[in-house]
Amino acid sequence: MRIKVFENKHQVEIASASIFIELIQQKPSAVLGLATGDTPIGTYREMIAAYQQGKVSYRYVRTFNLDEYVGIASDHPNSYASFMKNHLFESIDIPSEQTHIPDGQQQDLEAECIRYDELMKAVGQIDLQILGIGRNGHIGFNEPSRTLSSKTHVVALSAETRKQNAHHFSHPEQVPTQAITMGVGSILQAKTILLVAYGAGKADILKEALQGPVNTEVPASLLQLHPRVIVMMDQEAGSWYRG
Ligand code: GLP
Repeated sequence: MRIKVFENKHQVEIASASIFIELIQQKPSAVLGLATGDTPIGTYREMIAAYQQGKVSYRYVRTFNLDEYVGIASDHPNSYASFMKNHLFESIDIPSEQTHIPDGQQQDLEAECIRYDELMKAVGQIDLQILGIGRNGHIGFNEPSRTLSSKTHVVALSAETRKQNAHHFSHPEQVPTQAITMGVGSILQAKTILLVAYGAGKADILKEALQGPVNTEVPASLLQLHPRVIVMMDQEAGSWYRG
């Protein structure tokens, strides 16, 4: 695991975007694993800037998002499909049919999970997966639990996670109670994982996840089992790290 602490958030945004840009320059048909939440927004902004400056094209890239809420339409402003469109896809040259997000509106959610896993298998290994971390240690929407699912599955969102995500909704009760998420097994299959975190509020869980015991009650701790993890944090999130 390579852990890097940067002086400020903007430096992390630039450095994390560079990892994506350099990969795509070397491999134009790279498969990217993408995340939502506040954390990757700056990375995506820098990826858009690189496209606008003619440094990179996303024409042949394929993407798989980690997760999606169950029960809200893909064009709802709070869906992760809308998030990806607004924060990345509509500002770069990736064809929409090369972007994949679980569909939380399907009647048969189990079938949707199977479809998503099969699609990932058909496209091939994710080259680079960006991750944020929930304050309870979740990755994607893999919540702390005695057991974790390896494959894409439906999860009940914890009260803590719903509370954390409530600021995106006009009313806390509108936060969906369920989501579809890639499993921890799928996440760990990515060739490289880039974990990004900002702010003092993430420091304790990062220390626990990256230096504590590997434990399904802290899903991000399973990243310790992966051979190529890069962690990029600002000073506040990485205050505990002594190098
Ligand atoms: C969300 C997402 C995660 C994200 C996490 C942290 O619920 N499902 O993929 O990493 O919570 O969010 P944020 O980046 O806003 O702190």
